[in-house]
Amino acid sequence: MKVTIVGAGNVGATCADAIAYRRIASEIVLLDIREGFAEGKALDIMQTQTTLGFNTKVSGSTNDYSKTAGSDVVVITSGIPRKPGMTREELIGINAGIVKSVAESLLQHSPNAIVVVVSNPMDTMTYLTLKATGLPKNRVIGMGGALDSSRFKTYLSQALDKPANDIHGMVIGGHGDTTMIPLTRLAAYNGVPVSEFLSAEKLDKVAADTMVGGATLTALLGTSAWYAPGASVAYLVDSILNDQKKMIPCSVFLEGEYGQSDICIGVPCIIGKNGIEKIVDIDLNADEKAKFAKSADAVRAMNADLKSVLA
Ligand SMILES: NC(=O)c1ccc[n+]([C@@H]2O[C@H](COP(=O)([O-])OP(=O)(O)OC[C@H]3O[C@@H](n4cnc5c(N)ncnc54)[C@H](O)[C@@H]3O)[C@@H](O)[C@H]2O)c1
Repeated sequence: MKVTIVGAGNVGATCADAIAYRRIASEIVLLDIREGFAEGKALDIMQTQTTLGFNTKVSGSTNDYSKTAGSDVVVITSGIPRKPGMTREELIGINAGIVKSVAESLLQHSPNAIVVVVSNPMDTMTYLTLKATGLPKNRVIGMGGALDSSRFKTYLSQALDKPANDIHGMVIGGHGDTTMIPLTRLAAYNGVPVSEFLSAEKLDKVAADTMVGGATLTALLGTSAWYAPGASVAYLVDSILNDQKKMIPCSVFLEGEYGQSDICIGVPCIIGKNGIEKIVDIDLNADEKAKFAKSADAVRAMNADLKSVLA
């Protein structure tokens, strides 16, 4: 079981670390364009082997894709964050160029790999990867909903003052502050709807905190978060490599599900050895349906900025 992670920055390296110490894969390759950076991160992780008790082989590479050959899963975290004065279109243009060329290079050496897209704006980068590579839709998975759901469950557990692992909940829709939809109606504490314990006002606050979860961390850290994003990628990769068939909200290409087509956006999926094994088309109520349609409109508007890259 071999995993390649492109981008050995905060999210990529944390993801490699989690995959290694949880023994999810037997081999991990970290790749970055920064000379020596991926090699350094890989060596540092390897030196935790004896203290953490794993034997996963972790190696680094400066842009040499031959080292990634035969990967079962490839994860794309390469990209740049938005800089002051940069328009959204400029950011999309730069990251789209990076993601497209990285995806193509990866597939030259690992033609059967399942591709996990993390780079932002993630739903748009997932759509780009699917269109640019021509891969079947089960093999292109955008990671965002797993992270947003973990934040949702954390805020719910704090509001309830109950253990986080007794809480179930999902966030669907676009992976953005204004586009994600925490499904408070379906969230549960050990099978009991959380609305039995929390007032509507408290649930609204949990949803609002979840939606700005990423921005809250960026304000505190000065850059975007990495522990929960890296762990969420590892959780997704685990379900693929070990064919766990977990239901995880992921950004996937829709063809009529949830009333949407020709878009990648977050919906619950069964994740196994074939990537997206099934899209779970749950019944949303009228309010959730309206929010989902609005979210899809926003994601579609971003996808429009891809025209020059996809031309
Ligand atoms: N989907 C999510 O839930 C989620 C969560 C957090 C961050 N992100 C996104 O993930 C991406 C990475 O975030 P980060 O905090 O790790 O950033 P980072 O700057 O720490 O790491 C990015 C790395 O990508 C490398 N890189 C850039 N261009 C490359 C190329 N062409 N080939 C190989 N490597 C290249 C850089 O050298 C850098 O080391 C960002 O786009 C961020 O917005 C997504």
